[in-house]
This record gives sequence, structure tokens and C-alpha cells, in this order.
Amino acid sequence: MRTVKMRMAGGLAVAVVVMAGFGATGAVAAPPGTAGPRYTAGSDGAGDPYFPYSGNGGYDVQHYDLALTYTPPAMAPAPLQGSLTGVATIDLVATQDLDRFNLDLRGMDVTRVTVGGKPAAEVEAPAPGDEVDGAAYWQVQDDAARRWELTVQPRPKVKSGKSVRVVVEYRGTTVRPLDVEGALYGWVTTRDGAIVVSEPEGSMTWYPVSDHPTDKATYRFAITVPAGKVAVANGLPHKPAETSDGWTTWFWDAPDQQASYLTTASVGDFELRPTYTSTSGIPIVDAVDANLTANQLNTTNASLALQPAMIDFFESRFGPYPFNSYGAIVDDDSVGYALETQTRPVYSGSAGQGTVAHELAHQWFGNAVSPLRWQDIWLNEGWATYAAWLWTDDRGGTTAQQAYNSWYAPARTAAYWSFQIGDPGDLGLFATQVYNRGAATLHALRVEVGDEAFFEGARLWVERFNDGAATSADFQSVYEEVSGEDLDAFFQIWLWDQVKPPATWTL
Ligand code: TRP
Ligand code: ZN
Repeated sequence: MRTVKMRMAGGLAVAVVVMAGFGATGAVAAPPGTAGPRYTAGSDGAGDPYFPYSGNGGYDVQHYDLALTYTPPAMAPAPLQGSLTGVATIDLVATQDLDRFNLDLRGMDVTRVTVGGKPAAEVEAPAPGDEVDGAAYWQVQDDAARRWELTVQPRPKVKSGKSVRVVVEYRGTTVRPLDVEGALYGWVTTRDGAIVVSEPEGSMTWYPVSDHPTDKATYRFAITVPAGKVAVANGLPHKPAETSDGWTTWFWDAPDQQASYLTTASVGDFELRPTYTSTSGIPIVDAVDANLTANQLNTTNASLALQPAMIDFFESRFGPYPFNSYGAIVDDDSVGYALETQTRPVYSGSAGQGTVAHELAHQWFGNAVSPLRWQDIWLNEGWATYAAWLWTDDRGGTTAQQAYNSWYAPARTAAYWSFQIGDPGDLGLFATQVYNRGAATLHALRVEVGDEAFFEGARLWVERFNDGAATSADFQSVYEEVSGEDLDAFFQIWLWDQVKPPATWTL
């Protein structure tokens, strides 16, 4: 679903389509004065300069139903490769008159596509401008350009405003994919299963998807694995697992709007623990690897036991927890980081208290409100980092001001300061500055506007853009609204000036 609340800033060419006004009239955007074709191809990207082929244009996905069958690597000394077979049933609404449209899919081989129940023929990718006869599909896998596309040509063509169901059957060997900066992500094959963490555009390694946070949707999963393995996804089980002939199918339902990078379907030797609840009644389901070391298990158990108290604390500051459920997936294998997968973050090795607070805070900041462009990542990481500072402060540990002060300590001449968190670059998405200069920005903002406006702004931000995506400019507007101040100079210093900010922010 695309929200009508999204707003554009600074020249980004994302095709943000407000659905009202389209539809019945079938109006198309032909260049003025030309009799352009009525039906055109949807764009092969969402318009994000960092990841030009991530996401797609011309439609809005409503729902993904993913039926996956996964065989983890043999225990024998084999390469870390598994095998995945999937049937993705995708309900989408055309936002232009569609001749063709794309889905993102990397490293998987499509074996069958139907659109509106009608099979499409597999063909060679046509040259640009060439016509293809009849309902058809083709794949492009260009690793160098990071362009991984499945193009579907539906027949009949799909009129703007119409819903259509696309079913994609696919299979492949799962590997250990790398993101643009070389970190493991996507469907990461492990010894005993898979750690599935897809930020920023790794979901395309395991299902056909419009892989950009501007196209959120709901999800349902049926994940079949060898009996004894446990598959854990977002949301809650919608029926008990079923076992027959040595295979178990796990059913999960995620009814809240969700960005593609926040989907998971992790597989392992997990202990699925009994459900417990937050004070506000959010059911919490944890899956913890049965093979953690005693130390990892102690750390993890202590942190997970604090989840209800953390939900209470963040609800008191940021407003109601935004989704239907929560919990953790803790794997003994490691991708080297944790990810805030929606309702159920994934932790590698063990889950420390600070990390658990960080991933929980992302449910409000990043998940309920997502970055409209990856450039806006500081709104995710700055908030999650600052929220963990607030948690530690509330528990009587280091105060937020003390954390800010030690962040502020490095000399003016340190290389650290020459970094723009407002535009970190695709290789700088997870740079340390995005996290801690981002957190310091929020602390300074709190000092600038005062506690009351600061927390009112946080709640307004989440409420206004919930289920959608927004930019740094939108964020500034919210804080100008709640404070009545002009914050241009403030955000210039914090997001753009590549120097150490002047030291005027003390609570
Ligand atoms: N978003 C994750 C978090 O902060 C971190 C993350 C995702 C990451 N991908 C990464 C960190 C790659 C380092 C490298 O919770
Ligand atoms: Zn984070």
C-alpha cells in the first residue's frame, strides 16, 4: 500500500502515486501534446538514487502470500548452500495503465507466472523498445549493475486502478548474499537453517517483491522445513504447525503494513517459547536457538525478560506500540549485526540489552514510519540509538546527557566530523555517524525545543506517518509545528555541516 501522506523533498523522482484521482477515468500521463501510448511499462525502480533498481513503478502491492519450502545445507562438510522453492501470490493494484511491470528477484529461477489466473510464457529478455507477443515474463540478472528484475507482461493489459493477482513460482540455491558494502544480508544460509535479514534491498534474494520501503504491504507465510526445524516470520502464527512425511509447515500472519526489508522467515533449531504479553497486551513470541552457549543464553534471557518493561517505557514516550505482536529471533549463527525485522527482530549470537532496546525502538522509528529514501536512514538509526540512551538513562545508568557529552568529546580536528548524516551515501548507510551523530542530533533537538515539544513531536511523527514513509524535511516540519520555531539553521548544522557542532546543547 502506498500512503497518501508521503511528501517529497528535494528533487527525488520517486513515483509517489496518490490513488485518489486515478482509477475510473483511466487518465494516463502521456507527454503533453502527443498521443502517447495508453498502456506503458511500469518503471524498473522506485526512484531511489542509492538503489535505482530497488522497488518498481506502476503498481502498489497490497499483500504477499509466501509459500516457501526450504532445505538447509546438509550437515556434511558441504558449502553453505540450501535449496528454496517458493510460490509467491502477490495482490497488487495498478497505478497506471500497465503494459508490463517488474518485480525484483535476485538469484532465483522463475518457473511459472500467472496473472489474473492466466499463465504467461517464459521468453528471452527483449531488446529495449521491442514488442513481445502475448502474456510473457523474463528475467534480467545483472550483478555488476545490481539490477535483478523479473518483468511480467500481462494480457489483457491492466488498467489503472484495477487489482490483479500475480502468482510467481520459483526455485533456487540459497547462498550468502552480500549488500552493496559487502555485509551479509537477504536469505543468509546457515549451517542449521537461514538468518533472513534484508536491509536495505535483500528481500529480492528470497521472494519476488517491489523491494523498497515506499511500497508497504501485509504478509502471510507458510514455510515448510524438515521436521525438527522451526521457521519464524513476522506477526503471529495463524494456525498450529503441521507435520507430515518428515516435513513441518509453519504458518505466520503479519497483518500490519510492512516494508519489504523488514520481512523475515528465519529457519533454525529454535526453541519457540510460550507467548507472554506487555502491560498493554501485546503478545510476545520469542524464538531462541537451542545451541547458544551458556553465556549467550544468560545474556539473551536477561535482555528478553526486559522486553515488556521496554515496551511500557517506549509507549510512555512515543505512543502506542504500532503492531499486533512482538518478540525476538536469536540465532547461534551470525551475520555480524541485528536487524529490526517487523514485530520480531533478529539477533546474531546473543541479544544484549542495549541492542534489544535499539531494535524495539525501531518498531516506531523505521518500521511504523520508514525512510522514504535510503538517504533518510539517520531517522531510523539516530532514533533507535537515542531511544536506547533514554532507556539506559531511565534505568539509572549513563544519562542521555552523559552519553551526548562523551559523543561530543573528540577534537574538532577528528576525521569523524566530516560526514553528512543527511546524505551518507549507499556505502555510508550504517556508518557509525549515522547512529551516534543521529542520536546526538535528537538530543540537541530535545534541548532546542524542550522536553514537552520533543516528545509531542515524536508522537506526532509516528501518528502522522504511521504505515508510510517520510523524509528529513517532513521531520523538520513536524518539529517546527510542535515548537513554533524555524529549525533550518539547526538541521543545517546537524545533518549537513561537516564539522563538529558548536557545544551549546545541554539539558
Ligand atoms: N539496521 C541494523 C540495526 O541498526 C543494522 C544493519 C543492517 C547493519 N545492515 C547492516 C549494520 C550492515 C552493519 C552492516 O539494527
Ligand atoms: Zn538500528
